[in-house]
Amino acid sequence: MLRMERMLLLGTQFLFVSLLLSFYVHKGYAGITSTFVRSQWPATDIPLDNEAFAVPEGHNAPQQVRITQGDYDGKAVIISWVTPDEPGSSKVQYGTSEDKYEFTAEGTVANYSFYKYKSGYIHHCLVDGLEYDKKYYYKIGSGDSSRKFWFQTPPKINPDLSYKFGIIGDLGQTYNSLSTLEHYLQSGAQTVLFLGDLSYADRYHRNDIGIRWDTWGRFVERIAAYQPWIWSAGNHEIEYMPELGEIVPFKNYLQRYVTPYAACGSSNPLWYAIRRASAHIIVLSSYSPFVKYTPQWRWLREELKRVDREKTPWLIVLMHVPMYNSNEAHFMEGESMRSVYEEWFVHHKVDVIFAGHVHAYERSFRASNIHYNVSSGERYPVPDKAAPIYITVGDGGNQEGLAGRFRDPQPEYSAFRESSYGHSTLEIKNRTHAIYHWNRNDDGKKVPTDSVVLLNQYWSSNKRRRKLEKPTYGTAFY
Ligand SMILES: *[C@@H]1O[C@H](CO)[C@@H](O)[C@H](O)[C@H]1NC(C)=O
Ligand SMILES: *[C@@H]1O[C@H](CO)[C@@H](O)[C@H](O)[C@H]1NC(C)=O
Ligand SMILES: *[C@@H]1O[C@H](CO)[C@@H](O)[C@H](O)[C@H]1NC(C)=O
Ligand SMILES: [Fe+2]
Repeated sequence: MLRMERMLLLGTQFLFVSLLLSFYVHKGYAGITSTFVRSQWPATDIPLDNEAFAVPEGHNAPQQVRITQGDYDGKAVIISWVTPDEPGSSKVQYGTSEDKYEFTAEGTVANYSFYKYKSGYIHHCLVDGLEYDKKYYYKIGSGDSSRKFWFQTPPKINPDLSYKFGIIGDLGQTYNSLSTLEHYLQSGAQTVLFLGDLSYADRYHRNDIGIRWDTWGRFVERIAAYQPWIWSAGNHEIEYMPELGEIVPFKNYLQRYVTPYAACGSSNPLWYAIRRASAHIIVLSSYSPFVKYTPQWRWLREELKRVDREKTPWLIVLMHVPMYNSNEAHFMEGESMRSVYEEWFVHHKVDVIFAGHVHAYERSFRASNIHYNVSSGERYPVPDKAAPIYITVGDGGNQEGLAGRFRDPQPEYSAFRESSYGHSTLEIKNRTHAIYHWNRNDDGKKVPTDSVVLLNQYWSSNKRRRKLEKPTYGTAFY
């Protein structure tokens, strides 16, 4: 009798332990550190006279042409360009059929200096009142030097829209950066979410800083003139250089890159939000005050209240410094912002937070660390279904090279990490599903490496739906 009971007890314990084990195995809290070793092209910038930075022909021809979303909902774009020789016209001619530019918008022009470098004439032109989901053709410059481009407006905000975003960070202007752009072009993505650290011009001296901002503008034009780049700023944009007499942070960046910050009630171009198709995208500034009571904190608190998941199911946050990172590079630099905002992100069920800064790739599990306070003990990240996934895509390919040393052992919050160059895409399918990919450049070939099916945090919290899908290698479900 006693023996029977003991055996039963043992059996129950065994069952309990195996259940526990299978729970952990199933939860997959065993991250992958990729062993892929890449034969790097040298992380050196492309020379100034290279074709990648070609100056368009003609007197005062517009160069560094780029567009970004110009309003809150996607019915406007801001078109920017530089004329090198004289101010010229700030007019944009546009229309919905090729070579018939029936409308005109008038922009602004400004120039500035940085140390002894004098910029070209920088034009910004808001083109608004556009129709949704339409291809527009536009023309800038005059006479023989005029140039023509096109873009597609997003569909009207709707929870069931599919839309494909690309994600690029820390791009720079090396051959690796060029490879990232070439792979991105093949992705079919419609809008770039840029994670900060654009040109790395601040690695240069004196006048060369301005010159490398210009080359970068020409470098990305091949994509940025045709689809919006949603900008966020990184540390390489700060350029606080008292030794050159330059003490206004973000000067080159803010003169050249504009954002629709006023449309969402932000007081500063460095933090803002847009809505596009079925996504609400919040851009934060890692290098602006963000603690309690600061303008960014107050704005974010209000913006999170404006998020309407019934209209835009997908809530995406961009910032430069990752809050979850297990690379030796920049380890824990995101802790200050994490301690202020993580609770909000969990509470508001943010789907995914993209960051750059670390020159490698990393994706987290859904985890949070919001119970710790200075007088209590729960100080470790724990699995949390309500938490966002954190993804670091700081691997655009700049001249500083890769961040190759990950912390060992891999922390439990880290799902996949690899030190290679690449870019990501987030393909929103409908209100419940999005397919996320990271593409490693792999020296020329486009190789999709990490992929996850994201279930929407607002619409898919239902347990039954979660169970339908089973994780397979390289593809996990959340
Ligand atoms: C802007 O351009 C004008 C010439 O059009 C020039 O005289 C002026 O010095 C420039 N300003 C700066 C700040 O470089
Ligand atoms: C800090 O943690 C302690 C212990 O769990 C708890 O009693 C207290 O309310 C917490 N304080 C704050 C401000 O969260
Ligand atoms: C949403 O997209 C996913 C993935 O393509 C698909 O399996 C699912 O059936 C779609 N749901 C609806 C309601 O269309
Ligand atoms: Fe950075």
